[in-house]
Amino acid sequence: MDEKDRLKWIYSSKDNRELCERYNRWAKDYDSELEEDYGWLAPQIVTGCVTKYVPKEARILEAGAGTGLVGQCLYHGGYRNLVAIDLSEGMLEKARDKKVYGELYQMVLGESLAFPDDSFEAVVCVGVFSFGHAPASSLDELVRITKPKGHIIFSQRSDAHAALGFKERQAELESAGRWKLVESDSHRAFSKQESDASRQVWVYQVM
Ligand SMILES: C[S@@+](CC[C@H](N)C(=O)[O-])C[C@H]1O[C@@H](n2cnc3c(N)ncnc32)[C@H](O)[C@@H]1O
Repeated sequence: MDEKDRLKWIYSSKDNRELCERYNRWAKDYDSELEEDYGWLAPQIVTGCVTKYVPKEARILEAGAGTGLVGQCLYHGGYRNLVAIDLSEGMLEKARDKKVYGELYQMVLGESLAFPDDSFEAVVCVGVFSFGHAPASSLDELVRITKPKGHIIFSQRSDAHAALGFKERQAELESAGRWKLVESDSHRAFSKQESDASRQVWVYQVM
C-alpha cells in the first residue's frame, strides 16, 4: 500500500496497533496535507454546530482529537475548557503544541474511558467513527461520561454510518432513553479527496 494514498493507507490498518503507528507517522504532515490536499472543512462545520448548543464555559471532551484542528477552531470560537483524547501519542504531541487543550490523554475509544460518569457538558468527535477506526460501541462510553442535558456532536461519512453499526447503535441508545436526537445535517463534500462521500453531523442530547 502506497503511503502517499493516505486515506487508503489509513483505512486499511488491520488493528489499533497498526492504525496508531500509521497516525504516529502521519502526524508531522497531517495539518499541511489536510489543508492543502484535502481542504478538510469538518472542524469549522462542526464548530459552527457546537456554538449553537454548547455554552462557552462548558468542559468539552474532544474524542479522537488528532493534531488538534477541531480544538483550535473551538478555542478561536471562545471555548477554553477543552480536554483531548486520542489513540496516537504522535498526533497528541502535535495537539499539545497548539496549546488549546487544558488536558490531553492517550485513550482508546471502544474501550473503557478513564473518566467518571457525567464528566463533560459536551463531547465532540470528528473523523473518528470511520472504517478501521473507533467502533459504534464507543458511543456507550461517550454517553456515560456526558452530563444529563449535555451534548454529543459528531461528524461521520454516511457510508460508514450505514456499514459500521452506527445506525443501529444510535437508534438503540435512543430507544433505551439514553439520548435524543437534536439535529442531523448532511453535507456533501467535507473534503476534496472524498467529494463522492456525503457526510453528516449528528447532534444528540444526553438524557
Ligand atoms: C482523521 S483523524 C481526525 C482528527 C481530528 N479530529 C481532525 O478532525 O482533524 C482520526 C483520529 O482518530 C484517532 N483514532 C482512531 N481510532 C481511535 C480510537 N479507537 N480511539 C481513539 N482515537 C482514535 C486517530 O489516532 C486520529 O488521530
